[in-house]
Amino acid sequence: MQSDDVRRKYLEFFKERGHVVIPSSSLLPKDDPTTLLTGSGMQPLIPYLMGKEHEKGTRLVDSQKCFRAEDIDEVGDNRHTTFFEMLGNWSLGDYFKQEQLTWFFQFLTDVVGIDPRRLYVTAYIGAEKYGIPRDDESVEIWKKLFTEKGIEAEAVELLNNENGADKGMQGGKIFYYDANKNWWSRKGRPEDMPAGEIGGPDSEVFYEFTNVEHDESFGKNCHPNCDCGRFLEIGNSVFMEYIKNEDGTFSPLPQKNVDFGGGLERITAASIDKNDVFATDLFTPIMEKVEELKPGLNDAVKRVFADHLRGATFLIADGVRPSNKEEGYILRRILRRVIAYQIAHDVHPDLFIEVIPLISDKFKNIYPEVGNSDEIVAVMEEEKQKFKTALNKGLNELSKYEKLTPADAFHLYESYGLPFELTKEFAPKDVAVDISRKDFERELDKHREM
Ligand code: SER
Repeated sequence: MQSDDVRRKYLEFFKERGHVVIPSSSLLPKDDPTTLLTGSGMQPLIPYLMGKEHEKGTRLVDSQKCFRAEDIDEVGDNRHTTFFEMLGNWSLGDYFKQEQLTWFFQFLTDVVGIDPRRLYVTAYIGAEKYGIPRDDESVEIWKKLFTEKGIEAEAVELLNNENGADKGMQGGKIFYYDANKNWWSRKGRPEDMPAGEIGGPDSEVFYEFTNVEHDESFGKNCHPNCDCGRFLEIGNSVFMEYIKNEDGTFSPLPQKNVDFGGGLERITAASIDKNDVFATDLFTPIMEKVEELKPGLNDAVKRVFADHLRGATFLIADGVRPSNKEEGYILRRILRRVIAYQIAHDVHPDLFIEVIPLISDKFKNIYPEVGNSDEIVAVMEEEKQKFKTALNKGLNELSKYEKLTPADAFHLYESYGLPFELTKEFAPKDVAVDISRKDFERELDKHREM
């Protein structure tokens, strides 16, 4: 299915079930100082999940623009993107698990046409210390839904990658995991949530790519949350029903909510059975144009161009401008990565002018703010001029080293915007660069933690 059809049919499906379609909010959150950019569909709805009355009622549906800066360094594989569209439906104290799981399953199987034998689902194993029970209710609903399609659905307990996943699939269809995988809040697990934060157990749906063999470097046995590429998460139903108290305990929210989010890119990829979101129509025009501008570029580099140019387009359209602060810095980082790759791989100088109108045309009917491609290109070109100077300084700095440590690579990244790959690529031949991407990431994590 084409992405426009997936988006339209999803909105229609929930409209037919009493939901009101609401427009996407800006990537810049309003009145929410806790996050720089909107990273999930629920963010603009937090006051309503906490009990405030929404003028459109208790059933809402939308396609929300999202940007996850924490995934910038993951981009290049077949599934991570910084910008994505999250299809979302909400029950604000209205329906709960039964309707939600049934409807999403019906949408995937009956509307999108996904073979239910390719679907695997998960549920929360519970946490005694917080008095939060195991989510047997969701498991019973899933069992029934699969059985109705003639599929046997055994439930299996897996805790997480570290201590439980070595049990593998065991022929199961439904999997219990702990809070590392099946609890959702903006801040992660219950123990990581600050007082006042809302969260709840969730139930995720995974699509299986049967042509992908399990890769044991990701763990001995495969399971839905394994990162080997055999499974792709395509939807997450969060049962948003708790709030964390000052004393670390949890209380029920005034109402039981549903917060569903599913990546349009991933559902579209599953609908065409391609384990690569960049092979969907959301990205193929950009990927093909980049290939035309520089034939033979490797996929990881093309994906960085496609993702970052799309993300930068949407950020600029929402009013972000490159700077050294906050969201402006995020935009600067992705633009500079593109520019550095453009120079390193000798990609045609007209990259922006060739690609941005394609993005603008693809999305302007849904998100009119991306319609002004001339202005977006102008912002990018200006940043390119500025970065060329910094890049030359970075390359000059790089030429002074005799040996590069992970800390040096981080310094070049942080101070001159030189991506790790480029530091390796640009280092003069006599400079010893015996650093792996993992070493660099460890350094990055250290600084992220700080
Ligand atoms: N809040 C959940 C998520 O972002 C579901 O919408 O995954």
